[in-house]
Formats: sequence, structure tokens, C-alpha cells
Amino acid sequence: CGIVGYIGHQEAYPIIIKGLQRLEYRGYDSAGIALYEDGEIHVSKTKGKVEDLKKKAENAANTLGVLGLGHTRWATHGVPNDTNSHPHYSNSGDLVIIHNGIIENYESIKKALQKRGYEFKTDTDTEVLVNLIEEVKNKEGVKLGKAVQLALNQVVGAYAIAVFDRTKPDEIVVAKLGSPLAIGIGENEYFIASDASPFIEYTNNAIYLEDEEMAIIRLGKEIKLRKIKNDAIAYPNILELQLNLEEIEKGGYDHFMLKEIYEQPRAILDTYRGRLLANEGIIRMAGIDQNLEKFLNANRIIIVACGTSWHAGLVAEYIFEDLARIPVEVEYASEFRYRNPVITENDVLIAISQSGETADTLAAIKLAKEKGAFVFGVCNVVGSSIARETHAGAYTHAGPEIGVASTKAFTTQITVLTLIALKLASEKGMFSASKFHEILTELEGIPGKVERTLESNDLVAHISDTYKDSTNCLYLGRGYNFPVALEGALKLKEISYIHAEGYPAAEMKHGPIALIDEQMPVVVIATKKGHYEKVVSNIQEIKSRNGRIIAVVTEGDKTVKELADHVVEVPETLECLTPLLTTIPLQLLSYHIAVMRECNVDQPRNLAKSVTVE
Ligand code: G6P
Repeated sequence: CGIVGYIGHQEAYPIIIKGLQRLEYRGYDSAGIALYEDGEIHVSKTKGKVEDLKKKAENAANTLGVLGLGHTRWATHGVPNDTNSHPHYSNSGDLVIIHNGIIENYESIKKALQKRGYEFKTDTDTEVLVNLIEEVKNKEGVKLGKAVQLALNQVVGAYAIAVFDRTKPDEIVVAKLGSPLAIGIGENEYFIASDASPFIEYTNNAIYLEDEEMAIIRLGKEIKLRKIKNDAIAYPNILELQLNLEEIEKGGYDHFMLKEIYEQPRAILDTYRGRLLANEGIIRMAGIDQNLEKFLNANRIIIVACGTSWHAGLVAEYIFEDLARIPVEVEYASEFRYRNPVITENDVLIAISQSGETADTLAAIKLAKEKGAFVFGVCNVVGSSIARETHAGAYTHAGPEIGVASTKAFTTQITVLTLIALKLASEKGMFSASKFHEILTELEGIPGKVERTLESNDLVAHISDTYKDSTNCLYLGRGYNFPVALEGALKLKEISYIHAEGYPAAEMKHGPIALIDEQMPVVVIATKKGHYEKVVSNIQEIKSRNGRIIAVVTEGDKTVKELADHVVEVPETLECLTPLLTTIPLQLLSYHIAVMRECNVDQPRNLAKSVTVE
């Protein structure tokens, strides 16, 4: 979910609505806003998008006030409908809350409150929390900040919340545990949001709350930070933000996803800039340099991640084992955390996460730390929870990724992981100086080759037109390109709602081959380096069952061209770097098919960009 709040001297409504639109990638099944004006609170909420909320609020003329809270939701408890949308208010109607996260013990609290006369209009855990705060406030006779603190000490779960009181409209109280919360500090005005994008045009000064911290934000006063547990004062660390507005707008592209696909040459370059010094034959990465022994003495590397980031982890497994000869295991964070895994002090855990907020990945990190492992983060969002929770890390520097389907985050994750593997391999003396130099130079040339691969956009759009009405699609690859096949299938599923599966090409014989008929498009990654002949045999097997073949091949390929229905060429590169190129046509394919099917590319149904619940 995304939350936005404002208190100050400007009209809150336009600020909150624009902010919610920027955060819509975090959840978009319903939205709501509460504004305070002249002793009254006006709430508008609706199932659907922020655009729908806007219509509703404007029709009802609920747009005035200099204090307000807004929310865009990704449902957990309670179906997405108007009633369950946030903000929620307390029985007296005085307290208003927005909440991102889950209150796990809400049912028992709800029952207790019901016994004491509280009534509930919604199925949400959030309405329970706001009434608990109200009850504590009245019973203990304390101020709002204290009441929030006492109430939060009774709940189990994860949250970022913002609350205000109709009878004291110069104050907002916020608190965080597990879900992100940033406070923007302007001139006698404050902004609250899940990330800084809603307030970036108003101020560069922000505080990111740490877990278990709360803040009392009062107009005309300095912000007061407290620990939720024990009342201790926390000192705000005011950061100067680097984000600029251009980075979070579409810049002439129809969709964020397309913009982000096209940003990849630049994003990959930004990822290795200052780290890869090909001429000197050096890779410089502070997080690795300072912890080199940990990596070199590691028994094994365990990679944990979810979704697309997990696929980047699989590519990394091939690279680490192949180049650096370090054993690697790749785990879904959600499985790893609950299966009592064997972790020792000699293990290194690498957590990969675009957002740096994924709840399961964060929990896996905490578990590994408890067991004494060294934990390294590969995140895109600077200052995110995972970036802070890990012992060391390397940012991907891809810039904000807004499209829910991850694109540039994936290729930049692979770039960072490749740099790490190469660095370790060279430290271990796996290459001659000239070989190392050759690989580094080739990596340096990847942005140019991605650029060339993007020239196939029109061709891929044309192919997409042929297959836009398919109901199934199979993606095959071997070796380094097996994870790319998984990622290609995920992209298609996510944004076009076509069922797709990725498989190691040879495994096709053990099941998926039964699905192949003349209706079935099969995307095969068949680049020259990497088991080419074997993949060609797999293509023949598909062909003899009348499957339709879309092949991604190396420039100049002739053999596959004769067998396949369509080919898309990528420039030749080293085997270990091919995923950075072969991924591109698959991203474009899913993009064009989704556009042709009139799907919402940037905000596919049921998905969220940042999954802060488990
Ligand atoms: C969600 C997103 C995916 C992403 C996954 C992991 O499912 O929709 O695009 O790959 O979470 O997110 P992370 O931020 O940890 O990379």
C-alpha cells in the first residue's frame, strides 16, 4: 500500500492526490483520502484507482483543507471495496488513520473491543487499530502520541501508520515497523509518504523512520521522534534527497515499463560506473573490498530473493560457480525463512531486492544474521530497510523503477552480481590478467549492445501481434539462459495474463512437450555460446510437433533461422553476459502483447511493486 499525508499551509488535496498517483505502483485496488476543514473531517474513498477517487472527491466537493491523509491500497484483510478502503476512523469519528501493513492479532483485539462496546463498519485490521488507539487515549487520559504508542505496544504485526485527531488539527502522529515511512520537512509544513516521490518537488529534506520509531509532527514545532517500545528519544537523521522529478515521470513514453526498458543501457552503465575500471583491470566495490575475507573464506553463498530478483539470483548462481568457483544456493526468501535452514557463521547470504522492502526477504536476512552469517544486500532503493538491515551491500543505481513488472532492476542486479563474481574470481586468481581484461572490456561494452538489441523493438512488436491472442506460452533456455526463460515467462504472465511457463530446454521432454501443438508459441533462447547444438535439437523437437517457435539468436545465425518461425537477433557476447542481452527481447515481447491486449501494463491486476506483507 502507499500512504501520503500533509499538514501545513497549502491545500492538502492536490498534494495528496498527486502523491498517491506516484505511489500507485505500490497498490491500486482502492484509494481514499480524509481532509480536515473547519472542525470537520471529510472522507472520500473508493474501490479502484486514484483517478476514480479524484472523481468521487471532486463530485462531493471534498477537496478543501490544509491537513489530510491519503491511501492507495493493496488488499490484505477484507476485499477491495469502498468500505474497506482507507482512511478509517474511530467510533467517535475523531481519529483518522491510514495504515500500510498487517496487524496479525487484530481479531482478538477486535473481540475485546466489541465486548467493551466498540462497533466496526469494516473487515479491516486498520479499523481495529484506530479504535484501540481511541480507547487507550480516553481510558488513560493521554495525548494522541502517547495513545498511539501504548496501542502499538499491544499489537503484533507490521505497519506504517499516520493518525490525526479532529479535535487537535495541528498534529499528525506516525509510526513504523516493517513498512517504510518517510517524512518531508518543508517551511512550516510537513509531508508524510511511503517513499519520497510524493514530496520531491516541495522539499529535499527528509527523515526516514527506523523500525520501532514514531514521530509526533506538530505545526510550528520541531519533529519529535520516539522509540515505540520504551519512550526513549530518537534523534532524527535529516537526509538531503538526490531524487529528481524527471526520474519519476514518464518522459514521453506511453508507459513506465517501456521507459524503463529503454533506460537499461544507461542504468547498466550507472551500475558499473566507478566500479569497473577495465583499463586498469580493477573492480572496485567498497562493500566487497571491506569484506573480502568473508567472501573468500565462505563455505558457500546463499542467495535469497523473491520474484524477478530471485531470477537474478539464479543467473548469479551460474556466474559465481562458473567464474569464481564458489558454491551457491538460491532460495525463495519465503521458503528459506520458514524451513529451519542450515546456516553457519561461514556462510555468506546475499539478499537481492529492488525495493529493499520485501517482507520475506527482510525476514530471511534477520534469520541469517541471528545464525551468525555475513549478510550482503543488493538493493536499488537507497536507504531502504534491506539496505539498512544488511552488514554491507552494493546498490544497483538503476534509478526509480515504477512499472510493476521489473525490467531495469533485473539487468542491473545481474550487473552488480557479475561485478562481484568477477572481483572474487580475480582475487582467487581464476583468470590471467589478459583474460580478466577481456571480460571487463566486454562488460563495459554491454550498454552499447543493449542499445543495439533495443533496435529490434519494431520486429518484436510485429511478432507480438501474431501471438497476442495465445492462451499459453512456453519459454525455454539452457545454462545462463534458463533463468532468463523463467523471467520471460514471468513478465508475460504478470502483465498480459497469458499463462506462461519457463523451463530448462532439456526438461521439456519430461512434461511440457505434451502441451505443444500448432497453437503453442514457444520462445527459445538459442544464442551461439552456451549449449547451442543442444538447444537446436530442442527446437527440432518442438518443430516436429508443430509448435510455433520464436527464437532469440546471436546476430548472423543461420541454422535456427531456418527452423524457427521468427528470430530476434542479439549481438554476440561472452556466455556469462548473454542474459543481459537475451532478456531485452523478452521484456519487449511481454510489453507489446500486454499493450495489444489492452492490459494495464504499469499496474497489472492483483500485483504490487513492493510486497511489504508476507
Ligand atoms: C513483487 C514485484 C516484483 C518483484 C518482487 C520482489 O512481486 O511485483 O517485480 O520482483 O516483488 O521485489 P523486490 O523489491 O524484493 O525485488
